[in-house]
Amino acid sequence: MTSNTPLPATFKPSGPLTGTISVPGDKSISHRALIFSALAVGKSRITGLLEGEDVLATADALRMMGAKIEKKDDVWTVHGVGVGGLMQPDNVLEMGNSGTSTRLLMGLIASHPISATFTGDASLTKRPMGRVIEPLSRMGADIRARKTADYKECLPLTVNGLCPAVPIEYRLPVPSAQVKSAILLAGLNTPGITRIVEPVLTRDHSETMLRGFGAQISVETDAEGCRVISLTGEAELQPQKIKVPGDPSSAAFPVVAALIVPGSDIIIENVGINPTRAGLYEVLQNMGGDIRFAKKRTVGGEPVADIHVRHSPLTGIDVPADIAPSMIDEFPVLFVAAAMAEGETTTRGLHELRVKESDRLSQMAKGLGLLGVSLTEQDDGLTIRGSGGKPLPGGSIKPVIETALDHRIAMSFAVAGLATESGLSIDDIRPVETSFPGFDELITKLAAT
Ligand code: S3P
Repeated sequence: MTSNTPLPATFKPSGPLTGTISVPGDKSISHRALIFSALAVGKSRITGLLEGEDVLATADALRMMGAKIEKKDDVWTVHGVGVGGLMQPDNVLEMGNSGTSTRLLMGLIASHPISATFTGDASLTKRPMGRVIEPLSRMGADIRARKTADYKECLPLTVNGLCPAVPIEYRLPVPSAQVKSAILLAGLNTPGITRIVEPVLTRDHSETMLRGFGAQISVETDAEGCRVISLTGEAELQPQKIKVPGDPSSAAFPVVAALIVPGSDIIIENVGINPTRAGLYEVLQNMGGDIRFAKKRTVGGEPVADIHVRHSPLTGIDVPADIAPSMIDEFPVLFVAAAMAEGETTTRGLHELRVKESDRLSQMAKGLGLLGVSLTEQDDGLTIRGSGGKPLPGGSIKPVIETALDHRIAMSFAVAGLATESGLSIDDIRPVETSFPGFDELITKLAAT
């Protein structure tokens, strides 16, 4: 973040949201586009890259390890060093708020003959890294992490890579695309076959993109119904031209805003609708949301569409736990939609939300509570009793909502503010820059047209 001082922001009740917009590039795909391009031999070109702080942290780290990354007009060019060709960074890798940068790059370094120290902001240094340390250590990397009082392994940490590393077969104990991708990245420079067994499907951008870059990767389903991903190591990646679609996790905010503000009717162009990411849209449709997908197409192996959303009365539902991985980043804004629905919405199986950029169950419960929403917080979910479309009262003062360095908490309450009686303030809007530069202006534009 450019400044060290929190920047409060106010969001007021809004008239109808209308117009056609687009959202910034997909964060997950942007990280992977830079990393795989840095590992190809030669020049890749990327358009639509998310220029948020998280992705820029990945770019800076890759530059420190030898990749040449530049931007001219709307095109990012990456001159890759080839798998195995990363150089020793001569400074600490500063990861800011970005768990994806940290975990993916840890995997990358684990099978290179280099070492790197990672650090981050007050949110990232609290997040658990044991989930990547464990498989990467099995592959031979030596990783030294700070231990917390409750024996969690956290940043700062140092990865001493091993080359050649040892291929492993690893069953993911938590449904995490970051862990899966860290192991795949380590496997790229490891002789033999690295195999990952995934009992619960998580976002599959790494697999799709690796295939596009020419890696030998296969995906099968075993007798228990688990996905088995096999990657042949010592890969040679070919440079690519990549078009990054709009981020469905960012589109989620204007989508919910349009659903809950009466009279709204918006179109969001060019949004990724990969089924491993699109759970929120299905849940909102099941709640009665008028959401339509137009001009469905495939761009760079990823399904993309324009999303048309109209204000709709929503009804609370029981959100099944098995849809959680396909909407894991969207629960904060779903809770806002639930707060405006008729009746009760129940969610469960959401332990992972407690170890994101903040404890998202607790932050959302606290903030919605301040707005007068009736809810119950369980260990693994929230039960929310909605207002039936009535504006959220929020008490007689404007509540100042704590965002805990979490971009998705900040944007969720910005959306909630549009549906309050008298507005609300959040304590810090800066974290939005990690994933959605221009968010504030976009919401203002929708409210003004
Ligand atoms: C991401 C995976 C998810 C998600 C994060 C981005 C990725 O994390 O929450 O914002 O790009 O792989 P987990 O893999 O830890 O669930």
